[in-house]
Amino acid sequence: MKNQDNSSSRRNFLKKSSLAGLGLTTALMSSCEQPKPQEEIREIGELNESSKKLLSLFKLKYPFFQAAPGGERLAMAIAKAGGMGCVSLGGASPEDAYEIVLRMNKETNGNYYANYLLHFEPNSFDKAIEAGCPNFQFSWGLPSKEMVTKIKSAGAKFCVQVSSKQNAEKALELLPDFLFCQGLEAGGHIQATKYLKDALPQVLEVAGEVPVLVSGGISTGHDIRKAIKNGAAGAVMGSRFIAAKESDISDFYKQKLVDADASNTVYTNCFSLGWNAMHRVLRNSTFLNWEAEGCPLEGNKPGEGEVIGKTSWGMDIERYSGWGPWEGYTGDLESMCMYAGEGVGEIKDIPAASDLIERLWKEFENK
Ligand SMILES: Cc1cc2nc3c(=O)[nH]c(=O)nc-3n(C[C@H](O)[C@H](O)[C@H](O)COP(=O)(O)O)c2cc1C
Repeated sequence: MKNQDNSSSRRNFLKKSSLAGLGLTTALMSSCEQPKPQEEIREIGELNESSKKLLSLFKLKYPFFQAAPGGERLAMAIAKAGGMGCVSLGGASPEDAYEIVLRMNKETNGNYYANYLLHFEPNSFDKAIEAGCPNFQFSWGLPSKEMVTKIKSAGAKFCVQVSSKQNAEKALELLPDFLFCQGLEAGGHIQATKYLKDALPQVLEVAGEVPVLVSGGISTGHDIRKAIKNGAAGAVMGSRFIAAKESDISDFYKQKLVDADASNTVYTNCFSLGWNAMHRVLRNSTFLNWEAEGCPLEGNKPGEGEVIGKTSWGMDIERYSGWGPWEGYTGDLESMCMYAGEGVGEIKDIPAASDLIERLWKEFENK
């Protein structure tokens, strides 16, 4: 603000002195006074009541949540920096999930949650409860009443990802502690059918006192300020956080996120092997060749069945599968599935998570 005041008075001073230099009188100056250039009004970021509630509910410093991807190391870094970390336990064995929760509990103040994508059986859920997981989040469906009872009896909290008034109402019947509102901007699999500008007001209309966080296309503190101004309690970030140093995707994928902008992402069902659901990815050679052939359905896709690489534990990755170029994966990384949200245009570096969080907060405050 100060700088702007200075520069505007400097502008006025220069204007006046050049007129004075032309020998014009003060009276003439005021009669000829030009309209002042429009001052830019800088909007300062402030937390709303819902954000404050969210922070106190989880003893967080910032209303910034990691989305499902990124891995345990990133989750710890985010939690230690005052945000909310996430470990995706849907694909973990019960034994692994148990160990992950123990490590997360040891290394953090409990400001993390376990993500379960309910298209798949939540096989490790009971073990996560047993290990003392403090928070859960469910997407692509609703947790059973039995799961909710287990969460509540363990003194844990839970969240459901929603995307419309209708599914928010259903989710709210389970009395969740907070909601994620996903928009079509999101990277990864997208249960949403609307962009956030349409989905958020609908969800807020029915959420009452339950904090609602936006998810999809958020990469900067400026985005977060707008969301909070519009009633969100905070923001969930997938693509932005996986492009941080501690995340478990490959350097190749991180650089692709840095290089891309929104027009390089596409909402599609191209990478349908293993799970045929809509998703947003970077347009890569697999996508472009498939699109060139007219987007044929499974059975007629070009290069279908071809092995394009291997995971770090030696599993084959087939073209069109949802496996992306994670750390240690080998093969034709470019042709693998790379999930990314529409906010990639604002991802311009690969910072440490703690630096990123500090920057997001500064941008949010916009002081
Ligand atoms: C690489 C990647 C993997 C994802 N995996 C999951 C997942 O396992 N479970 C889930 O609920 N959502 C998953 N998502 C979706 C995110 O939870 C979230 O909706 C999305 O990242 C938000 O959009 P943004 O990437 O633009 O921030 C994934 C997203 C990305 C980018």
